[in-house]
Amino acid sequence: MLFLTRLLAFSTLAVSVAECGLVYPAYQGVPATTNDAYNFNGTSTNSDSITSTALQVDQKSGVTTELLPNLPPANTTVTAVDGSLLNATIPASRRTVALPLKRKVSRRSSSEYELVFWGTGTDSDDRDASIVGTAYLTYTLVNNSTYNIQDCLEFCDNTPGCVFVNLYYEMNNHLLDHVFSEHSNLKCATYGDIHTAQEKLNFGGQSLSGDPNGPLTYIQQSAGWSSKSLSDPFTPDGYDPLAPLDGANEAPGYMGFVFLSKYDVAACAAECNARDPDPVGGSCKYFNIWRATVYGVPTTYTCAMYYIPADPSTAINYGQGNLKVTDSRGYVRKSYVLDGGFENLTCPNSGPFCLTTTTDTWLGSSPEGGDYDATIFHYTEYAHSGHGVALLGSAYGEDSLPGTLTSASVLYTEPGKTYIIEFFHSSYYSGGLAERDAFVEVYWNGNRVGALHPGYSLWQYYHFTAVGTGSDKLYFVGGAAPSYDFIDDVSVMQT
Ligand SMILES: *[C@@H]1O[C@H](CO)[C@@H](O)[C@H](O)[C@H]1NC(C)=O
Ligand SMILES: *[C@@H]1O[C@H](CO)[C@@H](O)[C@H](O)[C@H]1NC(C)=O
Ligand SMILES: *[C@@H]1O[C@H](CO)[C@@H](O)[C@H](O)[C@H]1NC(C)=O
Ligand SMILES: *[C@@H]1O[C@H](CO)[C@@H](O)[C@H](O)[C@H]1NC(C)=O
Ligand SMILES: *[C@@H]1O[C@H](CO)[C@@H](O)[C@H](O)[C@H]1NC(C)=O
Ligand SMILES: *[C@@H]1O[C@H](CO)[C@@H](O)[C@H](O)[C@H]1NC(C)=O
Repeated sequence: MLFLTRLLAFSTLAVSVAECGLVYPAYQGVPATTNDAYNFNGTSTNSDSITSTALQVDQKSGVTTELLPNLPPANTTVTAVDGSLLNATIPASRRTVALPLKRKVSRRSSSEYELVFWGTGTDSDDRDASIVGTAYLTYTLVNNSTYNIQDCLEFCDNTPGCVFVNLYYEMNNHLLDHVFSEHSNLKCATYGDIHTAQEKLNFGGQSLSGDPNGPLTYIQQSAGWSSKSLSDPFTPDGYDPLAPLDGANEAPGYMGFVFLSKYDVAACAAECNARDPDPVGGSCKYFNIWRATVYGVPTTYTCAMYYIPADPSTAINYGQGNLKVTDSRGYVRKSYVLDGGFENLTCPNSGPFCLTTTTDTWLGSSPEGGDYDATIFHYTEYAHSGHGVALLGSAYGEDSLPGTLTSASVLYTEPGKTYIIEFFHSSYYSGGLAERDAFVEVYWNGNRVGALHPGYSLWQYYHFTAVGTGSDKLYFVGGAAPSYDFIDDVSVMQT
């Protein structure tokens, strides 16, 4: 093969910088200054904060008496951010275009619903209560010449996200009796979560008859039906789902959480995409969405975000006290670049140190007259994380020309979507003065989409954006030995 791979494993060649000048990276030199490896201990999920916030948040509702029927279903909103309750709820969709719907909208027959609880009946002294619960969507008034279960379930079928209905009579409300065109007191309320009789909390008792001294409202025959089968949520664009998790993740690289008004995977993905990058860990690369119940009652929907993708082995938080973790799912944000951590290179005999210009996943090339100006190293001491790292600048110190590091395969993006290109960079190898010309330029299909001229720098996070064409070429140009630029942990993700 034509691969120009000069694998080296000189462990004895690292001599003191002071003694005879710089030992070049290819000879396993010791950097002039050091950057202690960052340790992610202590960056785990703050479950206590999630639990205590879940015990305070109140996002339960039902049909308020003056509300018009047949409004569009309520949008998902954020009800808490990192332990602070939000009073004015912010639409979760604020930073994205229309969110895909959570559940498939397909017509279901009433045989696809099951009764969750029955009502009191409609005798003159029967009194009941309607549901006050999470994930309220909208309501309608169904023809009340019969107790019209069929029309109510059909309304649920046609309401995106609906998995539960509460059907009940509301008496002595003049809006129903005289104002709304339906002339029906039979309310059909839809929800995005399943509720039980213990959530029958609205007993009426309001003065809405139109006469201040008139009779108060009351509820009769309040029954609930739920969909028998809940389809899996749609996987949001740019993510890969894990298999459903047993509990919530307790994992490092935790970035914080929001509570959502509904179990809305797409809204959680939008929160992850919009989360400010962590200076040490970079962008959100994983989210864990789960439903909290307190004494069995759905209470809130947690969206926890991480810059290190978590996995099922850490899904070990099943709840605390009366709070239970249910319906936990994890989604990993896809990176469209292969082997962004340069971990693909292994050394002969599993040695700790080697370098090359070519791996399965990256190609280093030099301009005319240059040699080894872009290389991939397997060496923990140089890496930001793991063993692998890329270097721009002549590895043997033979020239001061910039090298080009190219992703070996094109990136199969989605045309028209915006991508974040992020990576970590350092230029401290040769010390303060010698690193003054350090630079990296980022190219996307030949267009320069970013550049940095940091001079001497410890590991730092950078990100740029580019628009996908469906088949994109990513490369980095930089280094001017002895100004060396190291690059590691490259990710390209949909925004
Ligand atoms: C991080 O935590 C692990 C497990 O508790 C421990 O083995 C390791 O030594 C810690 N690392 C550092 C740098 O503290
Ligand atoms: C939901 O959000 C969309 C887009 O922001 C907006 O047009 C619509 O009015 C909202 N619907 C409700 C019920 O608030
Ligand atoms: C929310 O609003 C209520 C009533 O206006 C106020 O008493 C409370 O302090 C507010 N809470 C927060 C977190 O802003
Ligand atoms: C309700 O249904 C009955 C029986 O089908 C029908 O006669 C009546 O016109 C309907 N009322 C309304 C308001 O549609
Ligand atoms: C239907 O609702 C209307 C309006 O509230 C009410 O006047 C009427 O008595 C109800 N009919 C039945 C059969 O409950
Ligand atoms: C290199 O990376 C590619 C893509 O991530 C992977 O398929 C391949 O197995 C890797 N090879 C080695 C030797 O790690």
